Amino acid sequence: MSELAGTRVLLGVTGGIAAYKAALLARLLVGAGASVDPVLSRGAEHFIGAATFEGLTGRKVRGEVWEDVASGTHVELGRSAEVAIVYPATAHVLAKLANGLADDLLTTTLLASRCPLVLAPAMHTEMWEHAATRANVATLRKRGASILGPDDGPLMGGDTGPGRLVDPEDVLAHLVELLPGTRDLAGRTVVVTAGGTREPIDPVRFLGNRSSGKMGFAVAAAAARRGADVHLVAGPASLPTPPGVTRYDVGTTLEMHRVVLDLAARADVVVKAAAVADFRPAAVSTSKLKKAAGVPVVELEPNPDILLDLVERRGGAATPMMVGFAAETDDVEAEGRAKLERKGADLLVVNDVSGSDAGFEVDTNRVVILARDGARVDVPLASKAEVAGRILDEVVARL
Ligand code: CTP
Repeated sequence: MSELAGTRVLLGVTGGIAAYKAALLARLLVGAGASVDPVLSRGAEHFIGAATFEGLTGRKVRGEVWEDVASGTHVELGRSAEVAIVYPATAHVLAKLANGLADDLLTTTLLASRCPLVLAPAMHTEMWEHAATRANVATLRKRGASILGPDDGPLMGGDTGPGRLVDPEDVLAHLVELLPGTRDLAGRTVVVTAGGTREPIDPVRFLGNRSSGKMGFAVAAAAARRGADVHLVAGPASLPTPPGVTRYDVGTTLEMHRVVLDLAARADVVVKAAAVADFRPAAVSTSKLKKAAGVPVVELEPNPDILLDLVERRGGAATPMMVGFAAETDDVEAEGRAKLERKGADLLVVNDVSGSDAGFEVDTNRVVILARDGARVDVPLASKAEVAGRILDEVVARL
């Protein structure tokens, strides 16, 4: 197996009884071709010895910030890591990371790193469910960390419940998904739009829609991992910018229109995952509309269709490749085919939003990818990251 060939993995181990499983993970990672740098917290060393990791990884285990000071170990380790995993992650280390504390080699190294961070918590159920831990996990998630588990199962001292460390095999599978070996978009420029637009009515109100931006952000993240130069034009979305992606925040359809048309001039691919408002209030009140003034009548006027304008501007050329999205509830394929023709896109990703597990605001999606060349690819319910990968596979096949 060489799924992680040459990938530099920082393996942080913190002090929980499950720390022994980190030795198994180190062995799996090395077996998958990764170069593993183990960093043990002081607590971890009560449970498992550094010698075990040195033997398994063939690399020196570093434990203290003040060893080897001249070489700036934490900065060097942090910068060189392509992915960092803390396995197991105690409640304490989650709290430190959520607050940016850096009082040992592991936490200073993680603060100095910019690579994807994977955390596998393990602790007693009460600690996992404590409001403090939940808030810390929410903060870390919002910042882009992947949280794996914990599983539900036997814990220390004969207890059972959520808090059990995920198995090392699950971590390996996640890393392989997170770091696809393929760089098939290297040298390509990809523009992605994401989220909904907001059309102001007055200084405090707007017309908007339910798009969270998750699908578009997943496409941007996947394209960046595959080596593309990615420009993400995002409507208001409370999501972290994926690593390596250049982000442009916009509010209205008109703003998005201007930025996207500008960027598309040098793009190979434009992926239009944004839910763009077709209409905007014809007049925006400069002061807040008051209830006492009675029920307001908001007159609307049409917005430009960004996708149509892009296709028109491209003329007969094949680039940039245009990927549209459509959310449909009925007769998904027929509506999709008609929209593909009407918009002149090369690919149309049709979201079936009739259920609650796909489409708006959730982490999963179920789509049908329709191509101008007649192809149809069904992607059954999957994470938005996986769906993004499937969409890019279709793009790459046609570049
Ligand atoms: N789109 C766009 N500009 C608009 C509206 C839509 O670029 N003003 C893009 C979306 O980003 C999406 C695709 O067009 O990629 C389809 O959007 P959708 O809202 O489904 O299309 P509409 O033409 O508005 O059709 P409908 O009548 O179903 O709303």
